[in-house]
Amino acid sequence: MQVISTIKETKNKLSKERGAGHTIGFVPTMGVFHKGHISLMEKAKKENDVVIVSIFVNPTQFGEGEDYEDYPRDQKRDSEIAEQSGAHYLFAPEESELYGSDFNTYIEVGSLGEVLCGKTRTPHFKGVATIVTKLFNIVGPDSAYFGKKDYQQLRVIEKMVQDLNMPVKVEAVETVRDEDGLAVSSRNAYLGYDEREQATVLYQALSKVEEMVQAGNDSTAELEDVVRKMIDKRPLVQLEYIHIVDRSTLKALKKIEDGKSLAAIAANVGKARLIDNIEL
Ligand code: PAJ
Repeated sequence: MQVISTIKETKNKLSKERGAGHTIGFVPTMGVFHKGHISLMEKAKKENDVVIVSIFVNPTQFGEGEDYEDYPRDQKRDSEIAEQSGAHYLFAPEESELYGSDFNTYIEVGSLGEVLCGKTRTPHFKGVATIVTKLFNIVGPDSAYFGKKDYQQLRVIEKMVQDLNMPVKVEAVETVRDEDGLAVSSRNAYLGYDEREQATVLYQALSKVEEMVQAGNDSTAELEDVVRKMIDKRPLVQLEYIHIVDRSTLKALKKIEDGKSLAAIAANVGKARLIDNIEL
């Protein structure tokens, strides 16, 4: 695996790969690899001739007071994991390489970025869409891999690619969980022992919703209420939202629409802001 830090070299190497007729699979990340990232890389490896992974903790997607400075970074360990997972290239640029001092052009994402996490993390999806566009332009992938764990991010990217006719296929990857159900996340590292234990309520609550829907309950108000009550019993978990929405538009639903609904949850547990979701 080759580690590259400049845009120029990345473009050169990948244009040679394209010239040789190789398909390119791209996995954008912010590093500190876990099982979720690895599953994206493995899928990319299965479906493409060449896999490129990027690591960049993108400042424009962090709001004021969020954890940009504290966000964990460990490139040496990440390089080893990316190589073992089948990556051919690791693009890990400095901030100055991607955002010069006069950087001034952003992607506006519209209504998909205003709901759910977009309500409290106001500049977040604009920052995500902007960096992903830049990375797509640098890498020129055939396919790019995103996790369903960040469902809203996935929808924002899918819509952006569709609206702006970007020549990339967006591939969605199932959420990877620990044995107790907690979705793996770089931010789980912030959790203390008791917090980690109580955080499992997020997936338990989503599973309860799934069970109730399967039993025929289609009232989103009732389902959301059950989640609130379950979370209330865990004092270390502060619920930010539970919303049952249309999977495509992310707009709130009154009744479950089978195969088209999504229950999405966000909560603060100690220092960690955690999100999760389940398709219904
Ligand atoms: P990051 O949080 O590092 O996540 C990189 C990719 O891994 C995302 O597509 C995310 O959805 C996926 N992922 C994270 N946890 C997962 C899990 N438990 N199961 C499956 N996939 C999982 O998301 C970002 O970085 C950034 O916003 C980025 C897209 C790189 C733009 O800066």
